[in-house]
Amino acid sequence: MHAEMSAELWNSAVRVLDINWAGDHMVPSRRLYPHQWSWDAAFIAIGLAYVNPTRAWRDLRSLFEAQWPDGRVPHIVFDPATAEADYFPGPAFWNVPAYGNRAARGSTGIVQPPMHAIAAWEVYRHAAAHGANCAHQARTELQWLYPRLVAQQRYLTTDRDLGRGGLASIVHPWESGLDNSPAWDDSIANVPADLALLSRYRRRDLDVSDAAHRPTDLDYARYVGLVLSYQAGGYADHGLLDRHAFAVECPAFNSILASAELALAQIAGVLGLTAAAGTHRDRAGQITAAITRRLRDSATGMFHALDVKTGKLSAANCASGLLPLMLPDLPAAMVEAIMAQLRSPRFGLPVPSYDRTAADFDTMRYWRGPVWINVNWLVRRGLLVHGFRDEAEDLRTAMIRLVHRNGHFEYFHPTTGEGLGAPAFSWTAALSLDLLADRSVPAYAKAG
Ligand code: GLC
Repeated sequence: MHAEMSAELWNSAVRVLDINWAGDHMVPSRRLYPHQWSWDAAFIAIGLAYVNPTRAWRDLRSLFEAQWPDGRVPHIVFDPATAEADYFPGPAFWNVPAYGNRAARGSTGIVQPPMHAIAAWEVYRHAAAHGANCAHQARTELQWLYPRLVAQQRYLTTDRDLGRGGLASIVHPWESGLDNSPAWDDSIANVPADLALLSRYRRRDLDVSDAAHRPTDLDYARYVGLVLSYQAGGYADHGLLDRHAFAVECPAFNSILASAELALAQIAGVLGLTAAAGTHRDRAGQITAAITRRLRDSATGMFHALDVKTGKLSAANCASGLLPLMLPDLPAAMVEAIMAQLRSPRFGLPVPSYDRTAADFDTMRYWRGPVWINVNWLVRRGLLVHGFRDEAEDLRTAMIRLVHRNGHFEYFHPTTGEGLGAPAFSWTAALSLDLLADRSVPAYAKAG
């Protein structure tokens, strides 16, 4: 890789993160996403750690200041400076119960993958490089975040264990972060689609992006209906399975949930909480075991989303099914089965969001084919965890080339590499910084 190319990419990434900083939080992109998003904040912090750790911590704090008393971290924290009319679905639509300082900022009532413990640990690991003050700040921030991260895990592993099998369910496709993935097609088909909702609540995403990239109206009506259904019960989870049409266990969400426990074990260690560190490691092991028990197709070795309402595994082969590779305790035969999928014509590097050989593989549409940098960053982490250093390096290089050639886009065409969706997208920029910094030592390498 040329030094010139690295410098260009580094500088452009720093510029994107400067443009998208909104005083006390980062927006994913100025036009399409003018608020703060939960898992975006985590990926963004991982990159900010190299150039502005103070902003990395500030962004995570802003998000966790909006945490609910039950521990859930909302998927969007609204910026009061953005008018309701400029984003749908905004705070008035979500109409979440008021408490504490959330009155000022407002949030949604659903979650996203709990990437934040992983991010906090990564930012902490890099703090020392910025000198003693940053190292001191990092410890203080970890102390503030730790109980909040634990509360988030508690919420997801208990209130959200709707299937009672040791995994967290998502109750809306938006909670996966992989919003329009084919992984939900079978389950979302059971959700009533009331197109009249779209005249009552007008979607705004089509004002700022191409309809060919975005979810169809039918799916969008279902998304709106699911929020209204969750809202009708006050966003409570007790008994939700009986009154809500969508509950799914996602392999990516749950792999992140288990990895978060491992990150919490590291954080607890730094804070001198030795017994708690052991508990976090045990929980990671339990979630890993539940993933292998519940989400794996034993015939192919691939992991899939489980519909908790019907008990059926989705047949779709999605990038989310590769992410159990992040888990250090995954048995070797299962690791090999994922590697076989990864190396097959279905995927390849960089990994598309969906099986390239599927009849409905869509090179343009949101989460139904294009390449995302955050998903590939997670795949690379998995490759490193299991010692696949050559593939990890190939993937790192492929991602850097893709972004350097095409720009810091939200996602990329899986064959031409053309940048799609929002330009100047924060997590693409932030993770580019991390990839350029080339830390090839995995944070959670297998013991021994
Ligand atoms: C889209 C993505 C989601 C992301 C959000 C903000 O909704 O599907 O993963 O968090 O945009 O970038």
